[in-house]
Amino acid sequence: MRKMCLNLFIQGKGHHEASWRHPKASPLALTDIEYYKTLAQKAEAGLLHSIFLADAVALWDDIDKAPHNWLEPLTTLGALSQVTERIGLIATASTTYTAPYNLARYFASLDHISQGRVGWNIVTTWSADAAGNFGEQTQVSHADRYARAEDFMEAVCKLWDSWAEDAILDDRAGGIYADAARITPPNHAGPYYSVKGALNMPRGPQGRPVFVQAGSSPTGRNFAARFAEIIFTAHLVKETAQEFYSDVKGQAKQYGRSEDQVNILPGLGPIIGSTEEEAQKIAKELDDLADIEVGRKRLSARFGGHDFSNLPLDTPLSASDFPDVSTVQAARSRAELIVRAVEKDSLTLRQLLQKLAGARGHGTFVGTPEQLADYMEDWFSSGAADGFNLMPPVLPWMLDVLIEELLPILQKRNLFRTAHEGDTLKSALHLDRSVRSAKGDEQ
Ligand SMILES: Cc1cc2nc3c(=O)[nH]c(=O)nc-3n(C[C@H](O)[C@H](O)[C@H](O)COP(=O)(O)O)c2cc1C
Repeated sequence: MRKMCLNLFIQGKGHHEASWRHPKASPLALTDIEYYKTLAQKAEAGLLHSIFLADAVALWDDIDKAPHNWLEPLTTLGALSQVTERIGLIATASTTYTAPYNLARYFASLDHISQGRVGWNIVTTWSADAAGNFGEQTQVSHADRYARAEDFMEAVCKLWDSWAEDAILDDRAGGIYADAARITPPNHAGPYYSVKGALNMPRGPQGRPVFVQAGSSPTGRNFAARFAEIIFTAHLVKETAQEFYSDVKGQAKQYGRSEDQVNILPGLGPIIGSTEEEAQKIAKELDDLADIEVGRKRLSARFGGHDFSNLPLDTPLSASDFPDVSTVQAARSRAELIVRAVEKDSLTLRQLLQKLAGARGHGTFVGTPEQLADYMEDWFSSGAADGFNLMPPVLPWMLDVLIEELLPILQKRNLFRTAHEGDTLKSALHLDRSVRSAKGDEQ
């Protein structure tokens, strides 16, 4: 029977914008590896499939009022791989601001170190502020970021495939360590990247990391349909998630991929209490701690720095209060999601920012564990999700509640596994080990 794939998205002190101010948020610093060790071990003990660390290669401009993840994800997961044994380790890395050869060796190293548990969240980096940190005068356009990502994927795939599985002979008697003929230099010469030599290490246990992607614009969807084995996506309502699901799975099929090789995990930030009242009370506590100006700054970032400072707080908004989404060079699908939500519910700015404070445009839920299980089962069984990207509003408190209260219900309903499976992340997700060329054809 099909079961849910559940990932833990570790971000700051939790996904609610004001999580760090809540008395139950972890007292540990976000630079303290113990904070992440605790979360990783809890997630592993809870039988979650993977943990994920996002990354931004620029300092957010709301630093005065909000902490963010500081530690670089791959470095952090290197440490966590030594205090865990089974859980998948997914790190973000940018195709726009990393050299293919370096990225290939970082992930191959972690695949070896973690014995096959690594995943790569492939991002093009929508943040406009990042450009200046890498010698770019202006933000790289949405179209150009994805065009570069295409070439980048071709280069890194050739690097991960440059060593055959059996290239190492380790023939100590004969004095032959490796069969050089089984190591193929990429000699990649693309429109953006050229990479000559083979990777400087043998193939990792998974061959290539599990490919994760999180762009939902038409370009992003097409990219995901060709490459992604896990897709993170943001949806406030089931209907848009269903449309996304059938579109992307349909495109993947057109590329000759089978639907079970693509796991679509909408983000979900649940607040649960033993009663609905208790859950509502927690939600209000958090919303009351949220700072409108932090929300306004984050909204501006989503629209590439657009100035929303003159918008009144309590007047219903309309699409005309926002830049034309097709011109947004930042996170295009998120901008679209926000304008759609404004139009659908005639939200005021205050209402919009409160809605986004919960999980930045991902789904949120407030209720009892049983009600949450119903909500998740509904999306899972009606073509909207293969599982969820869990975004606990306050960490580790709400992760503990999910593991203790929700997961046993899902297991009782035979919707979630009761033991870890497989010896690599790929095998745990029942993913093929066969490789596909960057153009999507089988090899
Ligand atoms: C769950 C999730 C995690 C993401 N993590 C990152 C990240 O770590 N770093 C980043 O620059 N962008 C991240 N993104 C943004 C996406 O990579 C992408 O830029 C964004 O969804 C807009 O894509 P689009 O323009 O194709 O719609 C994430 C998005 C989602 C939904």
